[in-house]
Amino acid sequence: GTDEQEAAFYAIVDSDGRIEPRDAMPEAYRKTLIRQMAQHAHSEIIGMQPEGNWISRAPSLRRKAILLAKVQDEAGHGLYLYAAAETLGVSRDHLLELLHTHQQKYSSIFNYPTLTWADVGAIGWLVDGAAITNQVPLTRCSYGPYARAMVRICKEESFHQRQGFEALLTLTRGSARQKAMAQDALDRWWYPSLAMFGPPDRESTHSDQSMRWGIKRFGNDELRQRFVDMTAPQADVLGLTIPDPDLRWNDERGHYDFTQPDFDELFRVISGDGPCNRQRMEHRVAAHTEGAWVREAAAAYAAKRAKRAEA
Ligand code: 3HC
Repeated sequence: GTDEQEAAFYAIVDSDGRIEPRDAMPEAYRKTLIRQMAQHAHSEIIGMQPEGNWISRAPSLRRKAILLAKVQDEAGHGLYLYAAAETLGVSRDHLLELLHTHQQKYSSIFNYPTLTWADVGAIGWLVDGAAITNQVPLTRCSYGPYARAMVRICKEESFHQRQGFEALLTLTRGSARQKAMAQDALDRWWYPSLAMFGPPDRESTHSDQSMRWGIKRFGNDELRQRFVDMTAPQADVLGLTIPDPDLRWNDERGHYDFTQPDFDELFRVISGDGPCNRQRMEHRVAAHTEGAWVREAAAAYAAKRAKRAEA
């Protein structure tokens, strides 16, 4: 009966075990995982656009090759996450339909434009840095397929973060104009990166339940603080100034004091009113439509192979 099933579910979660696809699970647990995993996958796929914008304009072949590898990694992360979400009984096509019809979200951060080459470095350093801070705890998520997908993704994100930091280091050691370009990118990407971690805990819809279920290991505010503590010293190494006059180390707290991002802006961007929301979705839907023939060809080929295998 369901009482035993629920008891078995909580026995696994409370002993830090893993829930696998065939295990009994509360319907609400399944639903919130589909929501989060799908939106995580959507973020990876949409996240290809801001950086993809610079592949044809990278300043050297080396930078172009690195950026190409990173954008391809993001596509792969999306596929791992859609595949992990499919273990919960949804299809990738259905999840994409929900994205295209604004019934599911993607990360706010990708609604900002990449105006200069330095933005590619800032995205690697800050956005992938924030993603790592958020994703490392997810490698211990109670849902097995999600946790395992995160292990591989976190390894690749580390490369993303390092290459972004290194690209900015090159600029800050270059001409005054190059250093100014890096500072301008930091000025524009700092607060949207802090906002990536979500609303403050007191305004978070899902945090309590997600933490009870071992999906979210740390609250939004704690991960945001962890990101600031990690990143502030890195800005010093770059010789760049974080655009927050109140940022300073607080010895009593053992953390940096800092100014929170504008959460009204976050909610505006989430609800579709960011600088690039419309163009991101138009590009996504166009890519899906133009790519239909690839999906059909792959399906036809798979059907033919399956038929031959039966023969
Ligand atoms: N952008 C868009 N929506 C956001 C958001 C953001 N930055 N932060 C919160 N939200 C949404 C939530 O999805 C939720 O809406 P929903 O009910 O329709 O899903 C609502 O705002 C309330 O927020 P909560 O804090 O209650 O929601 P969560 O408990 O889900 O916490 C989260 C939000 C921390 C983003 C969590 O969903 C999470 O950890 N997701 C997995 C990580 C992820 O999606 N990262 C995307 C980063 S980009 C990336 O990884 C690509 C990298 O390679 C660069």
